[in-house]
Amino acid sequence: MIWLLFGAPGSGKGTQSKNIQAEFGFGHLSTGDMFRKNIKEGTALGKKAQEFMKDGNLVPDEVVIGMVGEELSAEKPCILDGFPRTLPQGEGLSNLLDEKSLALGGVIYLEVPHSDLMNRLTGRRVCKKCGEVYHIDFKPTTKEGVCDVCEGEVIHRNDDKPEVIENRLSVFLNQTEPLLKYYKDKGVLYKIDGVGESSEVFSRVEEILRKNH
Ligand code: AP5
Ligand code: MG
Ligand code: ZN
Repeated sequence: MIWLLFGAPGSGKGTQSKNIQAEFGFGHLSTGDMFRKNIKEGTALGKKAQEFMKDGNLVPDEVVIGMVGEELSAEKPCILDGFPRTLPQGEGLSNLLDEKSLALGGVIYLEVPHSDLMNRLTGRRVCKKCGEVYHIDFKPTTKEGVCDVCEGEVIHRNDDKPEVIENRLSVFLNQTEPLLKYYKDKGVLYKIDGVGESSEVFSRVEEILRKNH
């Protein structure tokens, strides 16, 4: 079974995915993380993705759908984080689920007001080695610049600059938000308040997963 974590940049998809993985043992596929891994490894896919990601634009649908199609499997329940992000990607995912005989558990939408997102993203720091997500105010590392989990280097993502963030947020409004109606019409949309302590947000996510698991 596949669950989608849906939300604007900075809404907490990565943070809540980690919580779901830890509590429920689900797999986690983040298209953003997959692209960043490819960029780091210098693959052709990474080079292509970088052209779009550096300015906060979306990587073309066929590239993303192809990449997800190679990774999706029926092995265990899995969370998709950051995919789909356009209506064609939504259709692409429906086709992939049919081909692989996978069910969609539901779409959890982390709703966070626009005014909170900029601060969450400019203050975010991530571990270069293990991917743990921090925030300079809301979840600081114990030792500055060093990951609490693995002692790796904690860095600022290079699309977390104010001008790139602005574009990512407007791309979300224009290209991604229309998917809300698409999933609402299918009767699988669960909207939750994404504001509050990360643990409070997780208890809202957990309630939905326990009822529908
Ligand atoms: P991606 O990596 O998916 O980035 P995003 O969607 O912009 O989302 P983020 O990872 O920035 O935020 P998040 O929701 O995971 O929040 P997080 O938990 O980190 O995509 C990057 C790029 O890749 C795209 O711009 C595009 O170019 C490309 N791409 C990816 N997928 C694609 C697709 N399907 N199609 C085309 N292109 C694609 O939290 C953010 C911060 O807030 C952290 O510091 C965290 O500590 C803090 N925080 C979390 N929860 C709380 C809370 N409750 N209270 C206070 N702070 C909190
Ligand atoms: Mg993320
Ligand atoms: Zn780490």
